[in-house]
Amino acid sequence: MDGFDHFTGGLQAHWMPFTANSDFKRAPRILTGAEGHYYFTSDGRRVYDSFSGLWTTGLGHCHPKITEAIARQSMTLDHAMSFQMGNDKAFALAERLTALAPEGFDAVFFANSGSEAADTALKIALAYHQAKDEKRRTRFIGRERGYHGVNFGGLSVGGIPANRAAFQSSLLPNVSHLPHTHNLEHNAYSKGEPQWGAHLADDLAALCKRHGGETIAAVIVEPVAGSTGILPPPAGYLKRLREICDQHGILLIFDEVITAFGRVGASFAAERFGVTPDIITTAKGLTNGAIPMGAVLVKQEIYDAICQGPAHLPEFFHGYTYSGHPVAAAAGLAALETYNDEGTFEEARALEPVFEEMIHELADHPNVVDIRNFGLMGAVELAPRPNAPGARGLDVHKICFWEEELVIRNGGDILQFSPFLNAKPGDIAMTFEKVRRAIDKAG
Ligand SMILES: Cc1ncc(COP(=O)(O)O)c(C=O)c1O
Repeated sequence: MDGFDHFTGGLQAHWMPFTANSDFKRAPRILTGAEGHYYFTSDGRRVYDSFSGLWTTGLGHCHPKITEAIARQSMTLDHAMSFQMGNDKAFALAERLTALAPEGFDAVFFANSGSEAADTALKIALAYHQAKDEKRRTRFIGRERGYHGVNFGGLSVGGIPANRAAFQSSLLPNVSHLPHTHNLEHNAYSKGEPQWGAHLADDLAALCKRHGGETIAAVIVEPVAGSTGILPPPAGYLKRLREICDQHGILLIFDEVITAFGRVGASFAAERFGVTPDIITTAKGLTNGAIPMGAVLVKQEIYDAICQGPAHLPEFFHGYTYSGHPVAAAAGLAALETYNDEGTFEEARALEPVFEEMIHELADHPNVVDIRNFGLMGAVELAPRPNAPGARGLDVHKICFWEEELVIRNGGDILQFSPFLNAKPGDIAMTFEKVRRAIDKAG
């Protein structure tokens, strides 16, 4: 099998997610295979993946250890009842995750995506306060430009206006948002953590004053905001959030769906920034993207508080048919083992300075208005065309695909990069050469 499967199907039926469907279907970009750092396309080309799947596949596509684990597991135990029954792989993966996590994180609740992990984390926070008889703690604090998936909880605490617009009137009522931390006047072209902006965390203190700190259940943030176009936290910002949460008994949730598993050169961003939250959500890199899975890691005291009560009843009325799915768990175990065996997180960390230098070389382009990076996450923000925000970014994406044999991600006019954790400097150089040409051509 060479990966070049000719695509003969119809295009109408598949309603594609976060995609300009009609535009896409006029000239579809269809992937039929993948190997290592490359995709194969339905028109017989091999294109380089500059985004590691969708922030998912840091080890490269179709990693043999992971595909073998999936094949073996699906022939051994394809599905296992997840309520009142358990499977060996889910227990093993939970143990492995707690060993990797910051100290004190000793329990894991499995979901199937980042969105489910986010909603699960919010429900755990509410259940915790209920169990502690702090029933007034019902308010959540999210952040402008935050992304916590598309389910109603995550959408309510998220702060990307386009995602919320159609659903605004039905979102959770008790939610406030911190300001986002992007500021072109102070922070344009920052490398790593911007020096300006730690004080923006003080808005949490102001929200505590306005609503009463004792009414707030949890604050949820991405340590580095990803989907909105890479907003690294200002130096000291996360630490300040932690302090204010502690002062008011508020749980701090880090949504690490992107940042966990090497993306910021460590097992978790919590470790990299030296700030420990109470709950961590993960997905994506957990299985190297090979099978959907999400996981919520919690401190032991949260598990202990909730998991009391009559021995014959579930303590937490929440769960999914596929929570801890054995095939996903086997993929997760293989991914974590491979990260360890191949020294992936260290390798990613060592690549960071090269990535930083090369992405910032685009700063001289007249259509570029900002560049930001942290870990192996980077964004090149383009000036929007008059009256057509997003059009220039989409054109660059298409030119990359059709003319440069390169897959990049554009969120509107913000080009985003998530190189493989085991990419080489030459891969990064090649990526940005192609991107520069595509920005030129897009005009
Ligand atoms: C921080 C964060 N949380 C949640 C999600 C949602 O994950 P999923 O698309 O798997 O539901 C994402 C997806 O990009 C994310 O980046």
